[in-house]
Amino acid sequence: MKYSRLVSTGRALPRQLVTNEELARTHGLDTSDQWIVERTGIRTRYRAAPDENATTLGEQAARQALETGGWAAEDLDLIIMGTTSSELMFPNSAVLLQAKLGIPGVPAFSVEAVCSGFLYALSVADQFIRSGQAARVLVVGAETFSRFVDPRDRSTSILFGDGAGAVLLEAADEPGIMVTRLHADGRYAELLYFPSGPGRNFRSMQNDYLIMQGSRVFKIAVQKLGDVLEETLRAANVTKEQIDWLVPHQANLRIIEALAHRLELPMNRVVVTVDQHANTSSASVPLALDIAIRDGRIQRGDLLMLEAFGGGFTWGAALIRY
Ligand code: UT7
Repeated sequence: MKYSRLVSTGRALPRQLVTNEELARTHGLDTSDQWIVERTGIRTRYRAAPDENATTLGEQAARQALETGGWAAEDLDLIIMGTTSSELMFPNSAVLLQAKLGIPGVPAFSVEAVCSGFLYALSVADQFIRSGQAARVLVVGAETFSRFVDPRDRSTSILFGDGAGAVLLEAADEPGIMVTRLHADGRYAELLYFPSGPGRNFRSMQNDYLIMQGSRVFKIAVQKLGDVLEETLRAANVTKEQIDWLVPHQANLRIIEALAHRLELPMNRVVVTVDQHANTSSASVPLALDIAIRDGRIQRGDLLMLEAFGGGFTWGAALIRY
């Protein structure tokens, strides 16, 4: 039986850091640092400049993961990218990343599941490795969601930031990735969506912005994520007490706290980066993972629970022995 082992991680952030005060002042928003911190936990976020995008940020994160893992790009036999911010309609960012890494012929594709994109991509990579179709896979979550929000809308513009995270997976005799569980429910599409695309109102896209009913998304996220955490534990035959670290999607500190409570996990076993990065969509989980591995909190042998929730709705979780 083959499993996927997590070899190394990497991350990248845009050059520009924006505080709550700067954001409010620049766009004349009727908000305050106090409101944003109390309701979301967010203090700063990074915003991509015109020359920064999902591919450039993904490349930086990927190169860091390769260097840390001691691999050359030529060692890869598959690239999967979770992103909804591909800078072109096509080719997708994974293929553009493959070209930047200089490895023609290596299969590369993107998975578009909004904030769950990395979890979906990780799960697909795991299936490729388990089935013997790939042995050394680069999985990237990279986004520039700040470009999807109306800078004058206080209810969404404060929430999102840009960034990228990457992991390398390789085939191993033991897990590694123990279980992944994915879900979607398209009946909720109107609670969080972008109102144009190639099949509808394509020409108006540059004037459109992300639309979200925040408080309804909040409640459903807490419920669905709580359920998938328990489902994942059951599938792996693991108890809550065995989890060493929760590495959650970083959308709102209050959602993260509710899930830690459901797992009966103290907050000092939860990786929180939403204060620094805000919601970076599919980059948020691999960014948080890389930070906690590099600062030494997550150690080899630790049991990690990853989870994410996003537009669609899509959601999922992964249990990993690091
Ligand atoms: O990653 C994808 C998934 N996305 C999420 O998980 C987001 C989930 N939702 C949330 O994080 C929260 O719902 C928000 C942070 C978006 C909003 O917090 P809330 O506590 O649910 O507030 P609310 O939407 O119920 O709004 C309460 C009030 C409203 O004013 P009224 O109608 O009570 O007068 C809003 O207009 O807060 C107002 N408000 C703000 N006030 C100051 C909304 N945004 C702001 C703001 N500053 N930035």
